[in-house]
Amino acid sequence: MSHHYIKRILVTGGAGFMGSAFVRYLLQKDIEKVVTLDLLTYAGNLENIKEVLKDPRHHFVHGDICNGPLIEELLRTHQIEAIVHFAAESHVDRSIADPKLFYRTNVEGTLSLLEVVRRFPEVHFHHISTDEVYGSLEKGEFSETSPYRPNSPYAASKAAADHFVRAYAHTYGLSITLSHSSNNFGPCQYREKFIPKMISHCLAKQPLPVYGKGINVRDWLFVEDHAEGVWLILQKGKRGENYNIGGKSQWRNIDLLHLLIEKVAQKQGENPKTYQELITFIEDRPGHDLRYALSTKKLETELGWNPKHLFEEGIDKTVEWYARK
Ligand SMILES: NC(=O)c1ccc[n+]([C@@H]2O[C@H](COP(=O)([O-])OP(=O)(O)OC[C@H]3O[C@@H](n4cnc5c(N)ncnc54)[C@H](O)[C@@H]3O)[C@@H](O)[C@H]2O)c1
Repeated sequence: MSHHYIKRILVTGGAGFMGSAFVRYLLQKDIEKVVTLDLLTYAGNLENIKEVLKDPRHHFVHGDICNGPLIEELLRTHQIEAIVHFAAESHVDRSIADPKLFYRTNVEGTLSLLEVVRRFPEVHFHHISTDEVYGSLEKGEFSETSPYRPNSPYAASKAAADHFVRAYAHTYGLSITLSHSSNNFGPCQYREKFIPKMISHCLAKQPLPVYGKGINVRDWLFVEDHAEGVWLILQKGKRGENYNIGGKSQWRNIDLLHLLIEKVAQKQGENPKTYQELITFIEDRPGHDLRYALSTKKLETELGWNPKHLFEEGIDKTVEWYARK
């Protein structure tokens, strides 16, 4: 399947963790224009894209995805061919404390973008979703046809946004693609998330809080491999389809923590015991999903994607990055 090669792209949430990795990735490609739109909430940081801020092909805009007239102006001025939509509230714990904010950004924000795209039907819309929309599973893997069973307010807001994207394609004939990825890790991730939090706490010799017994299983994907998956879907993916992007690296939280401890200890020339003593088990997150796992067969067979980084290689790069900060 080949389409017209897309060279003018608007990236929402491009100053966040995964969006910034995608923006950096894009600017290594043969691209004419990348417009990064970001509200710079607590999770957005211009530092994440500082290496591309001077690139003449890149343009940063501080703004809200809910601002329809602004989006319309950006599409027109920069002759945008595709929107890649990363902007969201992304932390499950925060969604438990403030579900309405998640509704506003993730559902209304996406809907607002889709309304603009209705007026620009030549613009392709790629939506970044999550494996969490499928809920939790004990055995096996989720595929692209697994039913939606969101369990947290975060997952529900992402699922609702996905449904609107699909419905807008079906009803109004928009050109869309969706990707569901597993937990990403890598440089530039806000320190509230598991991997950067544990690395930073080790480095600062602070307690290492683990939910419940630490037996929840997550699949981990290096953020640069995610960027490549999105790029392939954008350029070659079948229009109207959804694709899973997983890392094929499933870890129980507690085992992953022991690996991180080993890596940080090695780097700092410390005895791992120093950090192991900091582990504290805390009351579990309400409704905590036990396990996620994704089949990425569709992306591999249709588009030839494969994660380029071995899991430990990605972890080494990540530990290195946080140790330097
Ligand atoms: N982090 C993961 O492991 C993971 C896994 C699967 C899917 N996702 C999805 O990927 C996307 C990116 O996740 P992330 O971890 O990079 O998130 P993040 O929280 O690091 O970044 C989100 C970015 O969106 C921006 N933003 C928030 N509200 C905005 C608004 N109203 N208008 C414009 N910008 C706004 C923030 O300033 C921030 O830069 C999200 O859609 C998330 O649901 C994340």
